[in-house]
Order: sequence, then C-alpha cells, then structure tokens
Amino acid sequence: MSFINRSVSPIPTSVTFLFDTTDNGAVKARFNWVTSDMTIHTSVLNYAKKDGFNGTFTETMIGESTPIDQRDLYETFTGQYKNEVELTPIISHKAETGILEPDIEYVYSVGDGGINVTDIVNPPSFRTPAANVNEFSFLWLTDAQGSGKDVETVYRKYEQYTGRAVETAFNNHPDLSFILSTGDNVDFAFDTKEWDAYYNALQPYLYNTPYYSATGNHEYEGNPRITGSWDSIDPYMITAKGRINVPKNGPAYQGAGTNGLEPIVTGAIKQRLDGNTYYFEYGDAIFFVLDYSDNTSNIDETGDQGFSFSSDKAINDQLYWMKSVLKTNKKKWRFVAMHQGPYLGRFAQPTYWQTVTEAFDECGIDVVLSGHDHLYLRAKLMYNNQVTTIPGTGTTYITGGTAGYEFGTLYGQYNNVAETYTEKYTDWVVSSYHVIDVNESGISMTAKGIKMLPIDGITEQQEDHEDEFKEDESGYRSLDVSSEVVLTNTSRKKNLSSWKYPNSPVEKP
Ligand SMILES: [Fe+2]
Repeated sequence: MSFINRSVSPIPTSVTFLFDTTDNGAVKARFNWVTSDMTIHTSVLNYAKKDGFNGTFTETMIGESTPIDQRDLYETFTGQYKNEVELTPIISHKAETGILEPDIEYVYSVGDGGINVTDIVNPPSFRTPAANVNEFSFLWLTDAQGSGKDVETVYRKYEQYTGRAVETAFNNHPDLSFILSTGDNVDFAFDTKEWDAYYNALQPYLYNTPYYSATGNHEYEGNPRITGSWDSIDPYMITAKGRINVPKNGPAYQGAGTNGLEPIVTGAIKQRLDGNTYYFEYGDAIFFVLDYSDNTSNIDETGDQGFSFSSDKAINDQLYWMKSVLKTNKKKWRFVAMHQGPYLGRFAQPTYWQTVTEAFDECGIDVVLSGHDHLYLRAKLMYNNQVTTIPGTGTTYITGGTAGYEFGTLYGQYNNVAETYTEKYTDWVVSSYHVIDVNESGISMTAKGIKMLPIDGITEQQEDHEDEFKEDESGYRSLDVSSEVVLTNTSRKKNLSSWKYPNSPVEKP
C-alpha cells in the first residue's frame, strides 16, 4: 500500500479538470483542487503550451476558493458509528483557462501561485481535442462508494478496487479521451477521507484526463449508522461540488427566456442543480449530466420535501432544459448520464418514469448511463417504455457495474417486469469499468470487472470479506458475453426546433 499522507497541507490534492465547450466549438479547461490547510485562500492556475515550454508558464488565471467546513453537523449525528467519520474541513479551489487551441498539449500547475503548487519541474499536461474528432473512446465508472473504519482501510479499498479498474482500463485502452462517473463516488459524502481516498486512487489519470461526474444519492444523504437516518443533511451537496468544476451551462444558468439563455430554475432547485447538472460535448456527441436520484424528486423551490413521482418539478425542469439545449444543438449522438435510471432491475418501476422516458424519446437520446444498483444491466432498445428492435428508434439504458467492492444481488427483487426489458444482466462483479467507443457509424461498449464467486447463503456483502473474493482463472472477465457490443448504429437524432423555451422563473423573495 502506498504511504498515506494526510497531514494538513497547503499543497493541492484532488486535482481535476474537464473541458467546457464554448459557442464556437473551442474548449476551455475548468480546474478544481483542494487544500487541507485552511489558510490557503489564493487559487492560481498557470499553464502554457508544452511545445517550447522552458519552465515559465505563459498564462496565469486567478480563480476562487471556498472553505468547506461541516464540523458543526457532527453534533446532530446520533448513529452508533459516528466516530468512524472524519469531517475534516478543506478549501475548494476553482479556476479555468482561457479559450484553448485544438489538438495542442498544454502543461499546467495549480496552487497558490507561490511555493504551494503542483509539480512545476515536470508539470502534468493534457491535450485538447482536435477540431474535428470523428471517433473517440471514454471510460465510464460508477458507484465506487468506498467506506471503512479508518483511513488505511478506505484508501486500500479505493486503490484495490476503483484504482485497479481505472488502471486496467487505461492499460487496455491508452487513448481514453475522458472519464465519466455516474455517481455514488463515496459512501458518506461528509467523510473527508472517502473523498480524499477516491481522488487519490484516480489522481495519476486525473492529472491528464478530463473527468466528469454526476452526483448520486450517497453524495447528499444521511446514513442510519452515522447520522441516525437516511435524511439528507446537505441536499445541496457542498462536499461533492467542492471536488469538481463543472460547466456553467445547466438549468441554473440557461434553458428559459426569449433566447433560452436565462435560468430555468429558481430557489432551492437552482441551489441543488447549480454545480451538478450540465452538459458537455465531445466529437459529434453531447452528454447531459442530470441529477436524478430519489431525493431530487422531493424538492421544490422552497426546499420542501413533499415526495411525489408525478410532480417532480426538479426533474421536469431538467428535461425542459435538455430540450432547450437540443433546440439548437446539432450533435449526432446524444447521451444522458444520471445516477438512477428507469431500467435498473431493482427498485425502479419503469412506469413511474414515464415522464422521463417520454422526454428521452422526444429528445432522441441514444444511450442512458446510470448506476446505483452495483450490478450490470443492459436493457433492450426501449421506445415508449416498450421493447423495440428497429435500430434508431429507441434508447439503450445501461446500469453500470460497481467500480468499487460492494456488489448488488437484488436483480428483479422489486421489479417484476425486469426480465421483459433485460438484454444482459450480471452481478457478483466488482472493480468494473466500461469503455464506450463513439464513431460516425455507431456506439459500442466493452464492460469488464473482477469476477467474484457466488457464495451460497450470502445475499449481501459483509464488510472486510475481501478474502472471499476470488478471480477466475483468466483474471478479469467480460460482463458482456462479447466485448465491443454495439449499442446503436443509427442515431435517433430528433428535431426540436419547434420546442418553445419556457418562461424564466421569477426568483421569490
Ligand atoms: Fe446510489
């Protein structure tokens, strides 16, 4: 195990960046990093083209810092295991580049602009996408969700499972253009050591690879073992949002008004979706990252938690926003990434999701990526909540296998229609990764994970049972019977030019 240094430090950790597309198709890079030294309030991003770099960064951008200190919450915790949690404060730093040139390698450093910075002798680098990307592959992860009694256990789990999955993915697919997670990256979002361990496990790749994530229920909810109940102690996900700097193009920023460029949400919903709901583009594809998990359905503008599947204001606003974006966006392939999906095989009853799946049909969404259940489920092509067989007429919904160690075995338990829509289902798999290839002729996917042997009588993984997890003779195995499964070869692309932008909501005093 690598040495874990968790002393208070002014040096940046948890360094991530992602690409944000501008109107003319060029990209900016949006960076995020954290410091555990609470006196570091300066946020500086230095960068330069790698070609000709002589140790001097040519560009300097000043960002913003936000202290994240939730230690006061601890007094409200009543769970038996609350002492296992580490509510250590951090400072979150965000900064972005100016507009970058296509297909250029840039070196960078982040920190306080002085001595507390990332490596400036051999600085990390990234390459911007070419102007016309015809094909690309990306890594999709979900539900790393590591927890444990102490720092060593948590770091070890993230390294052994999630870190191993990512390392294997990059070894087998060195040209991955970005990483996308569908959430539940941690188990308890207020435990700083879980976030630190998650980003530590991914850090070697995050220095050079854009990283996008959706937020899951474990990014906001409580935990009976710790807080005393599942009730959210921070529905606005301050800790999760402190680790990523997402594009400011979500419902909190656009989708309404005469030109569709005014916020479509207000009040508590705006606060919730600002920083976790957004879109990005890569090549001829657009990715909508939505906030969909149980709690999202609950909130209205005032923060009231009246649960109703039929009046999901926060969900509907996201769907309206998606349509507003697609009114003018012409990308061929359309993805949605959201934590919980309609065809999970466990709790989800697809009939509850009619509003969502109808909107996806209207928007011509080709592929929906979700997580939450820790089991792999690829649904058949779906249209109007029915199986369809004609390419280009339906959406492929996939629940990803866990990138962590805690597998699910509850397929179909609460969902008696699961079999009718299931194309492929596998559980007993951990350390999963999914590589998705996108090109002009279609979208295909390879999914792998470490196989665990089913053990009679065990329906739920117990903690600290890693010794019982066995690989098969060949090591990793494919979740799909064949790798490079074709998800679609025909774009659904729908024309939303007649969609009318909703009126912008008026902020209530
Ligand atoms: Fe979840």
